Amino acid sequence: MEIFLDTANVEDIRRFARLGLIDGVTTNPALIAREGRDFREVVAEICDIVDGPISTEVISLDAATMIEEARMIAKLHPNIVVKIPATKAGYEALNVVSQEGIKVNFTIIYTANQAWLAAKAGATYVSPFVGRLDATSTHGSDLIAEIVQIFEIHGFVTKVLAASMRNEIYVKHAALAGAHIATIPPEVLDAMMESELTDVSLKGFLAEWEKLPREKREYFK
Ligand code: E4P
Repeated sequence: MEIFLDTANVEDIRRFARLGLIDGVTTNPALIAREGRDFREVVAEICDIVDGPISTEVISLDAATMIEEARMIAKLHPNIVVKIPATKAGYEALNVVSQEGIKVNFTIIYTANQAWLAAKAGATYVSPFVGRLDATSTHGSDLIAEIVQIFEIHGFVTKVLAASMRNEIYVKHAALAGAHIATIPPEVLDAMMESELTDVSLKGFLAEWEKLPREKREYFK
């Protein structure tokens, strides 16, 4: 499963890019707004840091303007993937721009039917919003498994991008359900790298090490 970072914060993106963990980035209007910076500047910086798919969303609700915005956004960088929301107008925009070769991440998906219709209309990625779905007392990871299964049965190459990941358990379930990608907020990715037991074990090893006479461990200075 690939990892995208779900943020528009360039410091966080830089930090994880240094670890070699990031295959791409997803943003949305709320994440960009949170940075309080110029939209184009933020997107350009992200594209400079990560050489992979960078999702950036349209902000209009009608198909004609979505199409215009998608064309504009796609021109910002060759790695840009345009995010289009799963509305009727969104399907119309998806149909038009995907035929022009623009890569689309069809987003804010809550049902398997929305996902396979998007695949049929040419989406490169579909983004089921697992955390938000769980908040309505439904199993979000079941949705991922259903979409993955439908795509396999019917031979769709569209990738399932698990979104709205609330904590590390969500990411594990997304991986087990067969998601091709999980887009993960920085704080969740931070938490995934650590375990208190690792710290305790390491502390114990080093305490034992200190018991070795100094001259026998001077190799390390
Ligand atoms: C994904 O592309 C979205 O940006 C993101 O996962 C939204 O999730 P949230 O707003 O529920 O955190």
